[in-house]
Parts: sequence; C-alpha cells; structure tokens
Amino acid sequence: MVAFYAALRAIKLYPVEHTAVQKTLAELSEIAEELRAEEGELEFRVSGEFIFINSTRLRLDLSNYATFGHILTLCKAAGIGAIHVGTKGTARDWTVLLSLLGAETASAPKDRFREIERRLRDTKIDTFELDEPSETVTDKEFNEEAKAAANRTYSQSVAVTKDVINSVRIGKTPNIRKIKRVVQGIVDQVLNEETSLIGLTAIRDYDEYTFTHSVNVCIFSVALGRRLGMSKLQLYELGLAALMHDIGKSRVPLDLLQKTGQLTEEEWKWMAAHPWLGVLVLFQFRRQQEELSYRAMTVCHEHHMKIDLTGYPRVIRPRQVSLLSKIVSIADGYDAATSRRVYQTEPLAPSAVLEEMRDNPRRGLDQVLVKAFINLLGIYPVGTLVVLDTFELAVVSASNPNPEALSRPIVKIISDPQGNRVSPPLVVDLAVPEAGGQYARTIIKTADPDRYGVTPGDYLL
Ligand SMILES: [Fe+2]
Ligand SMILES: [Fe+2]
Repeated sequence: MVAFYAALRAIKLYPVEHTAVQKTLAELSEIAEELRAEEGELEFRVSGEFIFINSTRLRLDLSNYATFGHILTLCKAAGIGAIHVGTKGTARDWTVLLSLLGAETASAPKDRFREIERRLRDTKIDTFELDEPSETVTDKEFNEEAKAAANRTYSQSVAVTKDVINSVRIGKTPNIRKIKRVVQGIVDQVLNEETSLIGLTAIRDYDEYTFTHSVNVCIFSVALGRRLGMSKLQLYELGLAALMHDIGKSRVPLDLLQKTGQLTEEEWKWMAAHPWLGVLVLFQFRRQQEELSYRAMTVCHEHHMKIDLTGYPRVIRPRQVSLLSKIVSIADGYDAATSRRVYQTEPLAPSAVLEEMRDNPRRGLDQVLVKAFINLLGIYPVGTLVVLDTFELAVVSASNPNPEALSRPIVKIISDPQGNRVSPPLVVDLAVPEAGGQYARTIIKTADPDRYGVTPGDYLL
C-alpha cells in the first residue's frame, strides 16, 4: 500500500517520464508480482472503511492513516470495490491504472468505473480486473463478526469486573492477571474496530451499573487515549487505571451506594473517601507478584479532583492532575450522567451531557480533552434518539469515522413521518449524499426517549 501510495503521489507531481515516477512504478510492480507469486493471487479490496489484501484486513492506525485514507477515498470516488492483479503486470500497466485512478473528474463513481474499464481495454491492458463495490455481502459479514467479537469482549469484561469488585468487598485479593487480560482485550478491540465496543456502552444495564460503569469508563478512556496517539503500552496502563478508578467503592457500605435519598454529612464523607480507599485497595493488590502501576493509584486518587482542584479529596499543596486522571474524569463524568441509576431516574440525553461538559466550567474538565471526546463520540453519540428533517424518528447506532461528518452519524430509523413503527429498523448512513449531492435526511434535534416510549438500547444489540 505504501508503494501504491508513493506511485500515486509521484504520478501526480511529475511527468510520467520522470525518474521518480519510473522508480516508484518499477518498485510497485515488483512488489505486487512478489506478493502475487507468494500468495498465488493478488486481490486488493476496499470494504466500508477497510482495506483487504487477499483475505488479510490491513490495520488502520495513526502511522498509516493518511496513506490508507487517501487510497480509500480514491477507490470510492472511482467506484472501485476490488482490483485483481494478474501476472505480467508491467510498470506501464500500473502507470495507466494509477493515472486513471488519480485523475480528477466530476463524474459519478458508477460512470468513472465504466470509463476506467474502457480505457484499460483500449490500451490493451489485461493485467487488472476491476470489481464494483460489493458492500452488501462483505460489509454485512464483517460487521456481524465485529459485533460478535465486541459483544464477547464486553460481557467478559463485565463478568471479570464483577468478580473483582465482589472479591474486594469480601476481603479477598482478586487475580490481577485476569484484570490485565480484560484490559488487553478492550485495548485490542478498540485498536481493531472501536465503533462496535463504543456502541455497547450505550446499552446501560440498570442492575449492573457498578460493573458496567467501570467497563464503560475503560472503553471510553482507551478510545480517547487512542485518539490522542497513545502507544499500545500506554493504552494498557490507561485502561487498567480506568477499570479500577472506582475500586474504592468496594470499601463503601453497599446500602450507602444504593441509597436513593439525600446523603447525610456522615454518609457523604464515606462516599467522598472512595478515591483514597481505592489507593489502599490497589496497594493491597501489590502483595501479589504481579505489578500494578502507580499510575492506576494516581487515577484512583485524582479522578474527582477536577483540574482546578475544587473537587475531592481536597488538596493542600498545588498540583497538576495527571493526564490519565483527566482522561478518566471525562469518561467517568459522561458515563455517570448518561446512565440510569438508583438516584438518577432520568438520565440526560448523551448530546446534552456532552454540551454540559463543554460549557459548564464547574465540571473542572480539561477542555482540549473534552473536544477530542466529542470528536470521538460525535455530536450525537450512540444511543441518542433523534428527529430527522423528514420527521422520521431514529436512534444513532454508530458515529461516523470521518471528523467532518460529526453531525451525520449512522442511524436506525424506527418510525416513519406518521409515527408508525418501522420494523425492522432501516439503517441509514446520514453522511452519504444522494445522486445530486443533496442529503436525503438530516438531524434536526434530539428527542426524549421517555416521551416517545422508546428504549434506545433495544435497538443497539
Ligand atoms: Fe469515582
Ligand atoms: Fe466512576
């Protein structure tokens, strides 16, 4: 892909005869031939936001984002779903293909595809065989598989977290290796395909709040850390700290955690002790051979401190809240405010929570990180009920990976303009314009699920 990209760039910048162009093209045809010989075939396929070489899905990360993104965009604009590379591909063949692919025209993808096929035929190039996108089968299969994997990771994480919190409550030391494996699972899943896992955080289970909260905060933190360019090892540390941030609550009496009314001063003291109680719990973990980082303790201690230090525990000396704590505070605040809990019967709409996090300085959050968080979740996060300009009602099911399409997520339409149920819901990507370049549907506002008798979580499984 790197050679492909380099050749594309060279053709754009220099005349074909230029040595730079010739060199990159020779390299590309050589690599392609090598790969084809080794694997017996060479198929390059784009599917949704992914690139496959034969059956291997290439991993998209920060270092190759520009390269892959550019190639994806070009293929989509040219209406190409797959390129089969045959034998005897020469530098000249590649030159023709890449010039056609990189050409700037205003025609629709379908027409471009025909045009490219015709031009290849005219120039007697039969090295390449092109396919139109076959989104239906592969995308669907891939999505199903990704969803199943995310489901497994999520339910496993909740089970282990439950186990950990309950063991601490009865005075046992939980197995740290198990906790680390959970965090690794979440990090891997987020790096691989973050949308599905983030989607699961929106299915808020009232009974399991304590456990799902920790897992959700871990997922949000890791996904945000990834956006900030953290390495895999840094993400492990962040994830572990996030998963353990409220571990101190397992030292707070249960009836207090579940109390619905106002807390007395004495009770509040208990609650407000959970950050430093958490530090003590983590210190006890250290009796095991396994290391647990000091960073996790710092996050336990600092996650309610706020950046202006007006939170708790109160600090006497000036200090800087650590980056990991700032990240976890945002994930924590968001998940807590959007969840239905014992003492919070009416959770706020996700979009309203994001707005409040951005506009209310008393929340004490780092505004740069809040901005990155909104970029991650979209203006309308997964699980938001929205009204479209067609007067249809829809539930947001995934944010759009493109940062320019923050207000155009992927939605499931659940009722038509007259208010009749659409069953099964119709999945629509609001960022895909119609033939004339117009959008068929646009979100006009968010709506209160209770008013419409809708449980958004039901549409996300
Ligand atoms: Fe907390
Ligand atoms: Fe929390």
